[in-house]
Amino acid sequence: MQSENPNRQTGGKDSAVVPQIDIIVPTYCERDNVALLIEKIDKALAGIAWGIVFVDDNSPDGTAALAKSIGADDARVRCIRRIGRRGLAGACIEGMLASQAPFVAVMDADLQHDETLLAQMLKQLSAGKADIVVGSRYLGGEGGGMSARRVSASRFAGVVARRLLGITATDPMSGFFAMRRAVFDDVAPRLSTQGFKILADILSSVGTDVRVMELPFTFRSRMHGTSKLDSKVILDFADVLLARAVGNLVPARFPYFMIVGGSGVAVHLIVLKLSLSLFAVPFLTAHIVATMVAIASNFFLNNMLTYRDQRLSGLDMLYGLLFFYVICSIGAFSNIGVANWLYANQSSWWLAGLLGSLVGLVWNFALSSTFVWRAR
Ligand code: GDD
Ligand code: MN
Repeated sequence: MQSENPNRQTGGKDSAVVPQIDIIVPTYCERDNVALLIEKIDKALAGIAWGIVFVDDNSPDGTAALAKSIGADDARVRCIRRIGRRGLAGACIEGMLASQAPFVAVMDADLQHDETLLAQMLKQLSAGKADIVVGSRYLGGEGGGMSARRVSASRFAGVVARRLLGITATDPMSGFFAMRRAVFDDVAPRLSTQGFKILADILSSVGTDVRVMELPFTFRSRMHGTSKLDSKVILDFADVLLARAVGNLVPARFPYFMIVGGSGVAVHLIVLKLSLSLFAVPFLTAHIVATMVAIASNFFLNNMLTYRDQRLSGLDMLYGLLFFYVICSIGAFSNIGVANWLYANQSSWWLAGLLGSLVGLVWNFALSSTFVWRAR
């Protein structure tokens, strides 16, 4: 039984070899590739202490069970079986987080990635020549086992990545790369677990001091099983861009600012109703009073909630309030201006109103972040 296994040692701190590099392999229905991949990696990394971490999203074909049964006899092979979660990027992240090796690599299970590149990647990393080494399908020229449509889609994504994200790698959508684990640990909290875009996400998240190197390889054709991707790459890539753009442009405070703005509308209506029915003042007066009260209420709520970390008090709070009044009244003009222009140009009333309010809101937010609650 288990105890007869000659590979199984009896405890002791030194009884297992600590890997120099862990190769993270995300899998979904890759049963037929698992054993072959391990064999190939073993051959390619002879003399190097390696580990493999399969991260399987509970594939119905039993990939995880197979990987675990191999791991039962070979401590270098491990498998994380995830339940209730799907996604390549998240699987890669989870595998890298489970690693304790100084270097980690990510590689597909389907033998499309050239395992002989791993040793070269590790050599560059351990010699301190780079912090991230990317296996590029384009450095060498042709795209290997990819359809023409796939090659152009992938190339297009590369061009956009370079322009918008400042990524210089030729193949930011590659699923084959290795890096210093410390660098990964650093960026891990900023990565998205959705989609296929793990490398592009890492490259756009790391600081400029992180050195990226590319090595060419030929993308092979898939032997067993089927691709989970294809035309979805582009869509996925648009998603990284959007996530980054929104992450950079829309600061974490904006949602709070919007909620407070929404409460301001309620305050406005209540005060308006009260002034009209209780005090019987003329509509214009009631409207002005309601606006003033709503702006003040927004100011105090923002001071307590949105900008709680740089809350104003005392005289600063009074000046802040006055400044907020000025900014909001200019905001009201831009709101009215935009709404009017849209309405005059045949837009529907609600679209004009909505966009007008949005412009006013963004204006108020931008100016009060800069002038009222000064960013540190
Ligand atoms: N755990 C997990 N969960 N693994 C997954 C999932 C998932 O939801 N989807 C795919 N995988 C695994 C596959 O089993 C395979 O090992 C690897 O991720 C790549 O999936 P493929 O379906 O073979 O993708 P591909 O060959 O079409 O895409 C390749 O090129 C893309 C860019 O063009 C891969 O290298 C991608 O990583 C790369 O982004
Ligand atoms: Mn593949």
